[in-house]
Amino acid sequence: MEVNQIYTKAKTYGVPVIRTESHKILEDVVKKVKPNHILEIGTAVGYSGTLMLKSSTADLITIEHNKDYKNQAIKNFKSNKLSNRVKVVFGDCLVEISKMLTSNKFNNHFDLIFLDGPKAQYDTLLEGLIKMLKPEGTLIVDNVLFRGYVNAEESAPTKRYKTIIKRLNTFIENCKNNPKLTEFSLINTEDGIIIAKKVQNEK
Ligand SMILES: C[S@@+](CC[C@H](N)C(=O)[O-])C[C@H]1O[C@@H](n2cnc3c(N)ncnc32)[C@H](O)[C@@H]1O
Repeated sequence: MEVNQIYTKAKTYGVPVIRTESHKILEDVVKKVKPNHILEIGTAVGYSGTLMLKSSTADLITIEHNKDYKNQAIKNFKSNKLSNRVKVVFGDCLVEISKMLTSNKFNNHFDLIFLDGPKAQYDTLLEGLIKMLKPEGTLIVDNVLFRGYVNAEESAPTKRYKTIIKRLNTFIENCKNNPKLTEFSLINTEDGIIIAKKVQNEK
C-alpha cells in the first residue's frame, strides 16, 4: 500500500497518525539527520515509520502495544518492501524501553528517536531515550501541545486531559532545561513538536 493510501485508510478507520504539518517536519528532520538507526515509540499502522524509512537508508525499531495496529503495520512495511529494515516490537513501550536499556545494547545507538506514543508517559521515558541517543543524535516528539490545550487559555475538558496536560508541561520543561539536551525548539503547530539534540559531551 502506497504511503498516502496508508494515511487515507488510517484516517477512515480512526487510527491516530501524524498530521500533515508534522509529516513535513518529520520528513525534513530525517533528510537533515541522515540517520543510520531510528527508534520510534508509537508505530500505529506504520505510516510515520514508512515515511522515515522512505526518506532515509536507516533501519528502524518501532514499538506498538495495540495488536491490530502492529499487525497492520507489519503488512504495510511488507507491501512497501521495507520489512528487512524494520523491527516492529509488540508491547508496552515502558517495558520494552526498560528491556532495551537493561541489555545495554542500545546505549548511544540511535541517530534519531521519534516519540509519538502515550503522552502521559513522555516524561517517564525521557531519560532512557536520551541514554539511547547517540551524542548529537536528534529527539523529535509529536503532540506536546496536545491538541492546543497545553499553554492554552481554554481549559481542558476532562480530568484525564488535565492530567496529560500537566505531565506534558513537566515534560516540556524537563526537555528545555535538560543539561543532556541542546538546540531545543518547540514548534508551535496545532499539536506542537519538540526537536532537540543530545549534547556531544555529557558532563
Ligand atoms: C499517535 S499514534 C502513533 C502514530 C504513528 N507514529 C504515525 O504517525 O503513523 C500513538 C500510538 O502509540 C500507541 N501506544 C499508546 N500507548 C502505548 C504504550 N504504552 N506502549 C506502546 N504503544 C503505545 C498507540 O496504540 C498508538 O498506535
